[in-house]
This record gives sequence, structure tokens and C-alpha cells, in this order.
Amino acid sequence: MASMPRGRIVGTGSTAPKKILSNVDLEGIVDTNNEWIVRRSGIEERHISSKDLDETTTDLATRASRNALDMAGISPGKLDMIVAGTVTPDRQFPSAACMVQENLNATNAAAFDVSAGCSGFLYALSVANNAIQCGNCKTALVMGVERLSTIVNWEDRGTCVLLGDGAGAVVLTAEKSDSGILSTHLKSDGSLGNLLYSSEGKLKLPQVLSCIEQKSFHLRMEGNRLFKRAINCLTDIAKEALNHNAIKETDVDNMIPHQANLRIIQATAKNLKISMDKVYTNIQRYGNTSSASIPIAMDEANREGLLRVGATVLLVSFGAGLTWGSALLKWAI
Ligand code: COA
Repeated sequence: MASMPRGRIVGTGSTAPKKILSNVDLEGIVDTNNEWIVRRSGIEERHISSKDLDETTTDLATRASRNALDMAGISPGKLDMIVAGTVTPDRQFPSAACMVQENLNATNAAAFDVSAGCSGFLYALSVANNAIQCGNCKTALVMGVERLSTIVNWEDRGTCVLLGDGAGAVVLTAEKSDSGILSTHLKSDGSLGNLLYSSEGKLKLPQVLSCIEQKSFHLRMEGNRLFKRAINCLTDIAKEALNHNAIKETDVDNMIPHQANLRIIQATAKNLKISMDKVYTNIQRYGNTSSASIPIAMDEANREGLLRVGATVLLVSFGAGLTWGSALLKWAI
């Protein structure tokens, strides 16, 4: 038995907006086609939130959280920490985590957001797990939630076809056991922030100018410069997790990667010599949901019964920042 507690995932949950936007639908919006999108990214459709439904970032995160809490059989009052990975909170402040706290009536929790692009969920998971290891927290709710549809430029075919909305959440409890989160590794390179950004932070500009430049609000990406770097970073950070735990690639039972591009996932798996039948993908149905992609995929894999108790599960992410990260888990639900 380990002497220090570690975070153990005891519940998973996810949700996505009702409206599905297919590649064929997108053909009517920008100059693109289903064949290009599927061949270059693996994406077939994505969920997009609607104004007239309860599908704000807070709504989605609350729903995913309730699903995770139900599975865990834990009441919101027991939570002492709520951490949300997101770059699309409903408000600049208060945080998405605080807004979810209110909905859940989780009155005993400290709640805050973590901004780390598509790595937001793994950064949030790492923060919560560290708090558990320090003894500062016993029960945590960790979310990844995004509405990228609100910041995407719907005239830019290079990005709008790739992104989608959704939310995923996990409940962690402190356990002195060999199961749970074995390690987390995080990395960043701020010098490459210009490869993927939303320039809304025009907070640098006077308010009036930022209003005039409405379009500067949009997400911008240099996709092909990110592509190779994503594969290398994901491969390296996965190896770091495995080396740290003295685990061989062949001992990985399930890999759940950030879902940015099917070709990136396949190339990373190939580098790691992990066969694709151990790799969970749902990018076909969701597109890239940024911070939400890993917890949505983990919840689906869990509910489909693909994650057996004792399985070695590798999570890897890469995103704006640049940021990248990994977590190695011994599955225990
Ligand atoms: N439909 C049709 N054609 C499109 C298109 C679309 N939606 N988007 C771009 N194109 C065109 C380009 O204009 C370009 O045309 P050109 O050769 O005449 O200039 C051509 O397709 C190739 O574009 P390119 O960007 O080189 O394609 P790619 O093979 O690199 O695939 C991405 C593009 C974005 C799918 C891919 O680069 C990617 O997934 N990158 C990484 C994303 C990532 O990791 N993000 C960070 C983590 S979230």
C-alpha cells in the first residue's frame, strides 16, 4: 500500500449539445467537402450548442458533473475542490467552476478554472491530484468543458470544420491504494503561442478598438505547423509517463488521447508501438472539443465497459499554449 494518498477516479460523466452539424452541413457554410474533412482529420460530425437550449458552458459542465457524481454515488456537498479546464467559460469571471458550484450547491468546495488550451483537462486533473497528494483535498470534481463554436471563425474553413462543443467530468477521491492516478506530467512552450490562439485578449487594446476589431475575437490556427509538433510532443510526454512508472508500451491497456486529428492519434500510437485497437477515438462524432475531449472519451470508454478494473490507462493531450501533458492511471471503477 502506498503511504501517500493519490486521486482515484470513481465516477465519469459527459454530455454534448443536441444539435449535430455534419460535414455535409458544413459544405453549405464554407468551401469544403466531406471527403477532405474525413481524409485530413477523421471527423464526420460535431455537436454545436444552440442559444435557445440550456447549453451554455455552465449548463454543459453541470450536466457532465451530475452524471459523474451520480456514478460515483457522491453528493455535491462532499466536494472540497472543483477544477474546470476551459478556454470558453461563459464569463471572464466568475469562473466556470464557480458557476457549476452554484448549480450543484457544492458549498464546501474551492472552485477555480485552469486555462491550458486543449490540455486543460489534464492540467486540471494534475492540480486536483496534487492537492489530494498534499492532503489538501479529499474529494474533487475535475471537468473539461468547451464551446469552441462561440469563438470559431465560421468563414475560416481551416478551423471551423475541426471543432465542436461538449463537456466531460470525473470525480476523484483520495485513496491510499495502488490504483488511481499513478503520475501526471505537464509541459508548455509559450514561445509557440502564435500557432493557435484567440486574439480576443485585445484587453491589450483600448476597449473601443477591441470593439471595432470584432473579428480579432476569433480562434486562429496554423494547422500544419502544429501537426508534426503535436505528434512529437504527445509521443515524448507519453514516454515520460511510461518511463516514470517503469511501464512498457506493451503494458498499456488503453490509450485515451486528446481528439484533435485522427492522423495525429494514429501516428502517435505508431511511434509508441501501441496498437490502434487499444486507442479510444470518438473524434468522428465530436470533432475537436479541446479540454472536453479526453473526459468525454474516457466517459464513453468507461460506459462501454472498455476499461477493466486494474487496466493501465494512458491519457495524452496537446494544445494551445503550447501545452501538452500525460497522466497514467490504474483504472479502478
Ligand atoms: N476543406 C477543403 N480544403 C481545405 C480545408 C477544408 N476545410 N481546410 C484547408 N484546406 C486546404 C488548404 O487551403 C490547403 O490548400 P492548398 O494546398 O491549395 O494551399 C490544403 O487544404 C492543405 O491544407 P493543410 O493545412 O496543409 O492540410 P493538412 O493536411 O495539414 O490538414 C489540419 C489540416 C488542420 C487538419 C491539420 O494540419 C491538423 O490537424 N493540424 C493539427 C491540429 C492540432 O493539433 N491542433 C492543436 C491541438 S488542438
